[in-house]
Amino acid sequence: MPRPDTPANSQWWRDAVCYEIYVRSFADANGDGVGDLAGIRQRLDHLVRLGVDALWLTPFYPSPMADHGYDVADPRAVDPLFGTLEDFDALVRDAHARSMRVMVDVVPNHSSSAHPWFLQALADGPGSAARERYLFRPGKGPNGDDPPNNWQSVFGGPAWSRVTDGEWYLHLFAPEQPDLNWRHPDVAADYEQTLRFWLGRGVDGFRIDVAHGLFKAPDLPDVTAGSSLDLMGPRMVPVPMWDQPEVHDVYRRWHGICADYDNDPVLVGEVWIGDPRSVARYVRPDELQLAFNFGLLFSRWDCAAYHDAIAGSLRELGAVGAPTTWVMSNHDVQRQASRFGPGEVGQQRARAAALLLLALPGPVFLYQGDELGLPEVHVPDAALQDPIWTRSGHTIRGRDGCRVPLPWGGDVPPYEFSPPEVETWLPMPTGWGPLTVGAQSDQPASMLELYRRALALRRAEPALGDGPLHWQSAEHGDVLDFVRPAPDGAGVRCLVNFAAEPIGLPRGQPLLSSAPLPTGQLPADTAVWLRV
Ligand code: NOJ
Repeated sequence: MPRPDTPANSQWWRDAVCYEIYVRSFADANGDGVGDLAGIRQRLDHLVRLGVDALWLTPFYPSPMADHGYDVADPRAVDPLFGTLEDFDALVRDAHARSMRVMVDVVPNHSSSAHPWFLQALADGPGSAARERYLFRPGKGPNGDDPPNNWQSVFGGPAWSRVTDGEWYLHLFAPEQPDLNWRHPDVAADYEQTLRFWLGRGVDGFRIDVAHGLFKAPDLPDVTAGSSLDLMGPRMVPVPMWDQPEVHDVYRRWHGICADYDNDPVLVGEVWIGDPRSVARYVRPDELQLAFNFGLLFSRWDCAAYHDAIAGSLRELGAVGAPTTWVMSNHDVQRQASRFGPGEVGQQRARAAALLLLALPGPVFLYQGDELGLPEVHVPDAALQDPIWTRSGHTIRGRDGCRVPLPWGGDVPPYEFSPPEVETWLPMPTGWGPLTVGAQSDQPASMLELYRRALALRRAEPALGDGPLHWQSAEHGDVLDFVRPAPDGAGVRCLVNFAAEPIGLPRGQPLLSSAPLPTGQLPADTAVWLRV
């Protein structure tokens, strides 16, 4: 199978630009309103022209879709909704032929409740061997009517559901996503088989869902007051359901499995922990190669916050020799163009953020639609699908607003995502005509052309991608200012103006800016790359 030129240990991932494809919402080839693998194949040229190095596909495995594929019933097959294994092989072949690598998602923390193991556990009853693969426990209270502990689900409500024979099982997400028991040898062995299955089909790496999960503290103790399920806060309180020490041995074994393949596959952990020092433990030299770094994603639009998030992660991950990844959005958070502020302000800042992101050292993860500046969509209540909406008793709208299908062309929904008149799985808003790939292509002022130029420059400039970053002495407290030196001395300086007023532009030839530069000035909410 043709493959990008990858000598073993090329460490291609050290500065790759990876593009997240939320498969349901990328492109619909068969006209059922849901994106599919054949749709991705048809649209690969968009990704080539954009200039990304690797694709990350969200789960496309057989699933009842209670959490849109993150509830996996068979990790080694393709759900007919998305196509067939032959479609997958063809997609990998076509992407490789275009020098793009392909990463797939694995979801080891939990399975679907429709997984044969869980069905067997239900059928075999309390005390059976089949129950040991999950976390079944008797309830508390005289009749066992209370859950075994006080853990809450990330999606809202108790993390335990009761089955008809009276036992309870743990699900840190939806009830349709029972947590696997990683202390059971079958679980580890089955996952190793899954990795080899996809590696054998040519994939170039894995994004590991909930990588800080998997193991729970042995006795499943109650969480104490003051701790939280959310490890993204400024002070991390240890909790018994996340970040247990045993998980690191799993990643050491997975590292060894990947080393058996000659395309230098990458393991990227969704390590949903805010403190970079804790994240760094996952990317020690014999574990994962990369972990998502959510520091920027959770920083408000503020110079000091961005500076600290960047400097802190470079310091902590550098200490273990791992590159720092940069993430500003994904399918779980509000679209950045809306997060940064309303309307034009949000767009302007999203443009500046794109240049900042792509000037940083290390791999970057883009989420489909970032390159179009798509805003968060207010999906009507009746159309909401995220389990968070129902689990929160209709108080939290959830993540559907960033998952609306991509607009490719035309002036009315479904904007060539699906054939005309087809109803898409989430409704697409009116007014997106100017945001489509077709409308933005070759328009020099569009978000899409900004991304295309920035990615082309990043690829061409030896100073960008992997390598050192030198902060410049701050002439202005609201300006992020750093230089990426090149081996030959011709570096690139990146400045981002967070102030409300323009600032004077230092000397240097502008290579690219996120907004027009009046003579000698860098306007508010604008970024520039200068040749130095
Ligand atoms: C993280 C995924 O990104 C999210 O979409 C999913 O709901 C949870 N993990 C549970 O698998």
